[in-house]
Amino acid sequence: MAEQNAYQVADWNGQSGERWVANQARLDAMLAVFGQAAIEAAAPATGERVLDVGCGAGASSLALAARVGAAGQVLGVDISEPLIGRARALAPQDTAALFRVADAGSAELPEGAFDILFSRFGVMFFDDPTGAFAHMRRALQPGGRVAFVCWRGAAENDWVRLPMGAIKGIVPPTAPPDPEAPGPFSFGDRGRVARILTAAGFTDIAIAPFDASIPFGEGGTRDAAIDDAVEMAFEVGPLSRALADQPDDIRARASAAVRAAFAGRPGERSVMIDGAAWIVMARNPAS
Ligand SMILES: C[S@@+](CC[C@H](N)C(=O)[O-])C[C@H]1O[C@@H](n2cnc3c(N)ncnc32)[C@H](O)[C@@H]1O
Repeated sequence: MAEQNAYQVADWNGQSGERWVANQARLDAMLAVFGQAAIEAAAPATGERVLDVGCGAGASSLALAARVGAAGQVLGVDISEPLIGRARALAPQDTAALFRVADAGSAELPEGAFDILFSRFGVMFFDDPTGAFAHMRRALQPGGRVAFVCWRGAAENDWVRLPMGAIKGIVPPTAPPDPEAPGPFSFGDRGRVARILTAAGFTDIAIAPFDASIPFGEGGTRDAAIDDAVEMAFEVGPLSRALADQPDDIRARASAAVRAAFAGRPGERSVMIDGAAWIVMARNPAS
């Protein structure tokens, strides 16, 4: 049998991980409001222990650590060596957060050791999401809670909808991706998320939409902000993959079309786009 999550391990230790590190500051600016909403849903109290799944460069782990204080504990786990490296480099010395390179869906985790299972956009990449959540549930204490944020569908999210719409007719179409395949939108169907969590043994599942206008590009001027948005779309996400093997003339036409699409969005020194996510909460049954 193929190793679980092998593609994701390779990708997040290769191109996706390197690009995420290179764009970490602007991705953190874009994702902050979603992470904050998930932290409010998690409602971490002083002294609680939190497992941050797919912690990436650690912004959420550090915010959670500030909430649980010195008496608490946050363990950020991620399959990506470069991202955990960045998380450790950004962490202040006195943080209660620790970081570990591990596959959250299968790594040995201390049983019943956490009060909260948290994630900001880090749980949509498992080959076997039910198996992964069942595994992570065992690391939660009885009655422990889950709070994570994940994207709704690509069609509702401008960071994909705008650039991918702009290149239609420029780049030859490819087969639409399997909506349940591991990737940023695999939890877009709220019914599927509920089925995964139920099958993994969780109860009290609540899934609520969360919408936000977010800065996708920023700069000293409006033009610089639009350039920044185009650059980020070329670096991270489905557009970068769609253009990866395209010749320079196609990439140049795509760049102009994507620029025009972002230029239609509001913002003074930014490009403000609409983001659509689910805030998901659940509970490990009390034994
Ligand atoms: C979209 S990024 C989000 C990173 C971070 N939570 C943030 O909001 O900045 C998804 C993260 O999940 C991690 N990831 C994917 N599959 C994983 C797994 N099986 N175990 C742990 N981390 C995983 C990736 O390496 C990546 O850092």
